[in-house]
Amino acid sequence: MSILGTPTVFLHGQAANKFVFTCDSNILATQQPSSIRRVCGEKNILELSGHEHKRVRGALLSFLKPEVLREYVSKMDEEIRKHFEMHWRGKNKVLAMPSMKTLTFNVMSSLLIGIEQGAKRDVLLDLFHQILEGVFSVPINLPFTRFNRSLQASAKIRTILMDLIQEKRAALEHATAFPQQDLITSLLSLRNEDNSVVLSDEEIVDSLVFIMIAGYDTTSNLLSFLIRISADDPSVYASMIQEQEEIAKSKACGELLTWDDLARMKCTWRVAMESLRMTPPVFTFFRKVLKDFEYKGYLIPKGWQVMLSPCMTHMDDNIFPDASKFDPERFEIQGSVPPYSFVAFGGGPRICPGNEFARIETLITIHYLANRFSWKLCRPGISFSREPGFPIFKDGLEIEIEPKIPEQKIMNKGPSKNINFELHYPMANVLLLRRVAYSRGELKARTQAHGGLLPKLDHERSSNPTPT
Ligand code: HEM
Repeated sequence: MSILGTPTVFLHGQAANKFVFTCDSNILATQQPSSIRRVCGEKNILELSGHEHKRVRGALLSFLKPEVLREYVSKMDEEIRKHFEMHWRGKNKVLAMPSMKTLTFNVMSSLLIGIEQGAKRDVLLDLFHQILEGVFSVPINLPFTRFNRSLQASAKIRTILMDLIQEKRAALEHATAFPQQDLITSLLSLRNEDNSVVLSDEEIVDSLVFIMIAGYDTTSNLLSFLIRISADDPSVYASMIQEQEEIAKSKACGELLTWDDLARMKCTWRVAMESLRMTPPVFTFFRKVLKDFEYKGYLIPKGWQVMLSPCMTHMDDNIFPDASKFDPERFEIQGSVPPYSFVAFGGGPRICPGNEFARIETLITIHYLANRFSWKLCRPGISFSREPGFPIFKDGLEIEIEPKIPEQKIMNKGPSKNINFELHYPMANVLLLRRVAYSRGELKARTQAHGGLLPKLDHERSSNPTPT
């Protein structure tokens, strides 16, 4: 077949997934619309292959790996609670899909770029929306086209990010920031053996723009679908609510979630996996053929492209029995799904490096949703369409919500203390002050005196209220 004039071979199935995902990058390379390349920059990770790809991917994973992200569960928790307080509390109806997009943007902005709530973040969100409106459009760069606006927004975001990089570099030099404060400081701090930088500033900017796009529609889609599925299916709803309520009961009122709490959210993650199986946000993969190759006796010539569909494998009854049934239990036994069969996050050397980030955000969001609200769809059984590839609900997925914790309790009891504390004294700042103090040697002596445990700073003791 031909797609936009390019001869295309369509592959599907477990063997095809394995072949495409693990194929030598000299034979099959990632294929993205030229609009993405021009908006995200020539050095974004999808443009890279071989050693260059490994270098940039390794740098991104130095922050996105689970061992590092587990330290940021509380920061994500704060951001997500704030979202529900600001955008959901006091309302009867919410448009879930745009709301989950804002939430996802804010979480990424805070953890990856280090921009907290405020005017700067609002500007960035606005520019980011302009980028997204044109990034998948026909790349005609004429005044008033979407693509033109997208390019202009990208140029403005790049200037903001470049300035931010300079600020953060200076802060790192003066020890007023610490290396793993966010993705930018993490990337700036990486060094090769000869002490040269691992990524140039331009590479950092390209990576940031791409990563924001890669993580935004995907994670917010998953969250929106979870809201819809649980509202449509009482048994799924009940099982998630039960799990999340049990976790909430085991915690002091207002206490932040921990990495160990997330490990207990097995049922919720199974529902998420099943949602990703049935409606993967990325539903086709494209690769360009750089060299002739043979697949199952067919010669695929150089210059063609390969299109791979995860949906076809995900809906194969031989791999997922009764595949059209929504059944999270199929993921109960770890390892029961054959390799390269569940490919919502891709596979091989390009498997999504943000999957852990997405998992943490999803679980925390569902935890607060399940414990603070009950919800039902305004239009039960609502369907979706794919534009330009991501599934979307035309009406924004309108839901009716009811608060579970009476307003009074939120205002006067445990969470309120924590919320006030959070607003004035975000966890990140506590973490930052600790690290800064530590790096200046003030804490070192105190730590040693406490047998290696980091003692609380005085201002932490006085400002952090005991949860009730
Ligand atoms: C539910 C959420 C997500 C889904 C379903 C998803 C899916 C995917 C898929 C299928 C790929 C592989 C594309 C290919 O092989 O052509 C990919 C790549 C990528 N994703 Fe995700 N993603 C998600 C969230 C995220 C997040 C939160 C981030 C960043 C924080 C992220 C960053 C990336 C990056 C940088 C790549 C390119 C990797 C490379 O080429 O080596 N993703 N994602």
